[in-house]
Amino acid sequence: MSAFSFRSLTFMMFITFLIWSSQIDTCNARRGKHWRQSRASSASLYKKKGKNHHQHHGNNGKSKHKHSSPKAPPVPEPNIPPSPPKQSPSTVFNVLDFGARGDGICDDTKAFQAAWAAACKVEASTMMVPSEFTFLVGPVSFSGSNCNPNIVFQLEGTIIAPMSSKAWGSGLLEWLEFTKMIGITVQGTGTIDGRGSVWWQESPYNDPLDDESKLIIPLNNTVEENSSIPISNSLGGKMPSIKPTALRFYGSFNVTVTSITIQNSPQCHLKFDFCTGVSVFNMNVISPGDSPNTDGIHLQGSKDVLIRSTNLACGDDCISIQTGCTNVYIHNVNCGPGHGISIGGLGKDGTRACVSNITVRDINMHNTMNGVRIKTWQGGSGSVQGVLFSNIQVSEVELPIVIDQYYCDKRQCKNQTSAVSLSEITFEKIKGTYTVKPVHLACSDNLPCVDVTLTDIELKPQQEQYHMYDVFCWQTFGELNSPTVPPIGCLHVGKPSNNRIQNDHDLCYT
Ligand SMILES: *[C@@H]1O[C@H](CO)[C@@H](O)[C@H](O)[C@H]1NC(C)=O
Ligand SMILES: *[C@@H]1O[C@H](CO)[C@@H](O)[C@H](O)[C@H]1NC(C)=O
Ligand SMILES: *[C@@H]1O[C@H](CO)[C@@H](O)[C@H](O)[C@H]1NC(C)=O
Ligand SMILES: *[C@@H]1O[C@H](CO)[C@@H](O)[C@H](O)[C@H]1NC(C)=O
Ligand SMILES: *[C@@H]1O[C@H](CO)[C@@H](O)[C@H](O)[C@H]1NC(C)=O
Repeated sequence: MSAFSFRSLTFMMFITFLIWSSQIDTCNARRGKHWRQSRASSASLYKKKGKNHHQHHGNNGKSKHKHSSPKAPPVPEPNIPPSPPKQSPSTVFNVLDFGARGDGICDDTKAFQAAWAAACKVEASTMMVPSEFTFLVGPVSFSGSNCNPNIVFQLEGTIIAPMSSKAWGSGLLEWLEFTKMIGITVQGTGTIDGRGSVWWQESPYNDPLDDESKLIIPLNNTVEENSSIPISNSLGGKMPSIKPTALRFYGSFNVTVTSITIQNSPQCHLKFDFCTGVSVFNMNVISPGDSPNTDGIHLQGSKDVLIRSTNLACGDDCISIQTGCTNVYIHNVNCGPGHGISIGGLGKDGTRACVSNITVRDINMHNTMNGVRIKTWQGGSGSVQGVLFSNIQVSEVELPIVIDQYYCDKRQCKNQTSAVSLSEITFEKIKGTYTVKPVHLACSDNLPCVDVTLTDIELKPQQEQYHMYDVFCWQTFGELNSPTVPPIGCLHVGKPSNNRIQNDHDLCYT
C-alpha cells in the first residue's frame, strides 16, 4: 500500500467519523469550556438546515437573519476569546462557552440558562450573545432573585423563537423575561426575532379589535370582512391562543434597553411591568402593520420611565401606557405603522386605574390608526392626571387626537355612570395630515374631562378611501390657547358646573 492511498484511507475514515459523530451528536449541548471542539461538527450540522428547518424559510420571509444562507457559521479565532472592550474575561460569560450552538436549529435554552446562572454570581458581569450566530431559544425566565446587581445582557447575535407549538405548552405570556433585577441592561446590535407569523394567523377571532377602528368606515362598504379567517399554520400544529410577549421585564429597578432590534413578536414586543427607573433608547421594533395585537412597548405599573430615539413599527399601539404608570417621558420616537401612542384602555371590568405625569413629545407618526390617544372603559374609577402631548408630527394618520371614554372592544358595552376621571390633558403643536377625523374627544357624561388644553393644532385632510368626519367633542371642558385648524368649536371653555366629586375609593394617591 502506497503512502498516498494510506493517507487517503485515513482521511476517508476521518470524514466517516466526523459524519457519524455529528449524527449521534445532534443538538447535544456541551457543558464547560469545550465548545471549540464542537465547532467542526456544527459546521456539518449546518448543512442539514435546509432539510430539518424548512420552517425557517416558510412564513418568515420578512425577517432578516444573518444566517439565511446555508453556509457554515464562522469559526472564531481559537486564541482570541470573544469579549467586549474594557472588561476582563472573567466577568464575561459567553453562551458559546456554556454549550450554545448558535446554528438556529439546536435548542440553546439550557446554555442560556447556564450562562445566566454564572453571570448572576458576579456583580456587573456580562452575559454575551455573540454576533454571527443565531440562537434558537425557547421560553425562558432570567430571574434576578439571587443575582448580583447591574448585569449586562450583551446581544450581538440573533435570538429566534421556536415556531413549533410544542415549545409553548398550553400558552405562555412571555418568551424572554427578566424578573426582580436590580440594574439590568440589554444592549447590543443584535436582534430578537419572535417569528410571529405562525401566531398571527391563528385564532384571530380571540384578538380584541382596536375599538377606534369602529370610527373608521371605508367609502366602499365592500371591506374585507373575512380578512381575519384563520389560516392553519404551515407546520400543521395549532399555536396556543395565549400569545407571548417577546421581551418582558418584571419587578425590576434600573432597567436599560438600548441598540437592539426586536422583530415579529407573536404579541407585544417589549413590556415593563412594575419596574422603577426604565430607560429605552436607540432601539427598533419591526413588525407588519397588520400583525394583530403586536404592541411596540407596553408599560404597566412602572415609574420614572424614559423612552427616546426609537423607531417603532408594529400592528398595534407603538407605545401603550397602562395603569400604575407615573413620571413617563417619551421623546424623539418614530411611530408607524401602528395604532399610535396610547394611554389605556383603563378601567376595564370596573377596575381602578391611576396614571399621572406623562410627557410625549417630538414624535413622528406616519400611516398610523391613531396619533395620541387616551382610552378608558366605562365603569372604571381612578384618574389620568397631567398628560402633555407636544410637537407631534402626523402624516396620513386616521385619528390624530383621541380621547375615548367609551372604549369597548366588544360589539356593545352598556352605559355606566362611573369612569376613570381625566384632567390636565394638554395637546400642543400637533400638525400634519389626517385621513378620517382630526379630533375625537368623547368624555364621560357623569365625569366630564376637565382642563383639556389645545394649542397650536394644524391638521389637514388627506383624501383617501375613507369617510371624512368633522371634529367631535362630548363633555370636554378646558381651553383653546390659539386658533386651531380646523376650528374646535365643540370644546366647552371653562369648568363643568356639575363636576362630580369622586369618592375616596376612586381617588389615586401618589
Ligand atoms: C368604490 O366602488 C366603486 C363602484 O363600486 C368603484 O368604482 C371604486 O373603484 C371603489 N373605490 C375603492 C377605493 O375601492
Ligand atoms: C365572507 O365570507 C362569506 C361566507 O364565508 C362569503 O359569503 C362572503 O362572500 C365573504 N365576503 C368577502 C368580502 O370575502
Ligand atoms: C438606580 O440608579 C440610580 C442612578 O444610577 C441610583 O442612584 C439608584 O441607587 C439605583 N437604584 C437601585 C435600586 O439600585
Ligand atoms: C414628572 O416626570 C418627570 C419625568 O418625566 C420628572 O422629571 C418630574 O419630576 C415629574 N414631576 C413630578 C411632579 O413628579
Ligand atoms: C350611551 O351613552 C351615549 C352618550 O350619552 C349614547 O350616545 C348611547 O346611545 C348610549 N348607549 C346605550 C347602549 O345606552
